[in-house]
Amino acid sequence: MDTDLIKLVNKLQDTFNNLGAPAHFSRGELDMPQLVVVGSQSAGKSSVLETIVGRDFLPRGQGIVTRRPLVLQLIHTPESSDSSPGSPTFREWAQFLHIDKKFTDFNEIRKEIEQETFRVAGQNKGVSKLPISLRIYSPDVLDLTLVDLPGLTKIPVGDQPSDIERQIRNLVLDYISKPNSVILSVSPANVDLANSESLKLARQVDPQGRRTIGVLTKLDLMDAGTNALDILTGRVYPLKLGFIGVVNRSQQDINGEKSMEAALNSETEFFKSHPAYRNIAHKNGTKYLAKSLNQVLMNHIRDKLPDMKARLNTLMGQAQQELNSFGDSDSFGDQNQQGALILRLMTQFARDFVSSIEGTKVDIS
Ligand code: GDP
Ligand code: NA
Ligand code: MG
Repeated sequence: MDTDLIKLVNKLQDTFNNLGAPAHFSRGELDMPQLVVVGSQSAGKSSVLETIVGRDFLPRGQGIVTRRPLVLQLIHTPESSDSSPGSPTFREWAQFLHIDKKFTDFNEIRKEIEQETFRVAGQNKGVSKLPISLRIYSPDVLDLTLVDLPGLTKIPVGDQPSDIERQIRNLVLDYISKPNSVILSVSPANVDLANSESLKLARQVDPQGRRTIGVLTKLDLMDAGTNALDILTGRVYPLKLGFIGVVNRSQQDINGEKSMEAALNSETEFFKSHPAYRNIAHKNGTKYLAKSLNQVLMNHIRDKLPDMKARLNTLMGQAQQELNSFGDSDSFGDQNQQGALILRLMTQFARDFVSSIEGTKVDIS
């Protein structure tokens, strides 16, 4: 699969994020696509993200654990051939926007997320809109940008204000109402789909179900004698992008530190051996989900290309004008320098971008 296009988009996001670019250069204006995870509390959102990434690094558990948005950029790096002694090369590492440090221990990443959550959202179940920005570089990931969000709730607990339901709903809407976001609507299979808060919210912003992908978790926890075959084959709820079933690690698995690999193997085994799912096993599970997501993202970008090209041209025109207006005045020295740097990067990006548009063929399946 050709992922050059997504790499370019990630590069642009990096550039903007790192430069602290002026507001009109923000990602919002360029409207880059990203995958947003939405669901009720403890539906398994963080677990799904973790297994897509293939590493243990997110705080998970019963009750409210995710209390700030986490904007997670996965960046595929080529496998390094450098094995010269004395220069340890890391296969994968992570970096936060709020701290200048390369993380190679994924347990430390989880601790940092927890600390950063406590720092801004307090000790007692409070929720903050302020996102945590994290990038993971690895040969094992597909290029994706994902957003983990606090779960939809009904009742305030701890320090939460009385209107917590509305606050979280608005926070979620902020992310999913952008036409350019792809919604990963997570529902637990052991709760009737008619009660799914995430599907309800997704339908509000995506009535045709064009950019919503259904993820059904906890298939292993369904009542004996019941199964979700009708949902997974699209006969219950219409979503153009369909429903994909997954089995994440249970709380007991987490407590017992069951490895990611073992969990993926059990998941594969679950679908292959389950009488109801045997025939659709190849269209379910975490690996299939990750593949589908990448495909959806590629198609999404392709659909937006003409619009993005036009926006890019407008932005570049504005940047040039602004740069001209700074003139040689010393008092604008810093701003001028930053403007010039951004313009240079934009120009480079535009050139790469246009040539990639012309050179990219995207499979539509
Ligand atoms: P979030 O609140 O939506 O982010 O949910 P978490 O990922 O934190 O998971 C909440 C709890 O549900 C944890 O204890 C997980 O171990 C458990 N869990 C999530 N997905 C599954 C699943 O597919 N099967 C089982 N048995 N437990 C799950
Ligand atoms: Na939870
Ligand atoms: Mg969570």
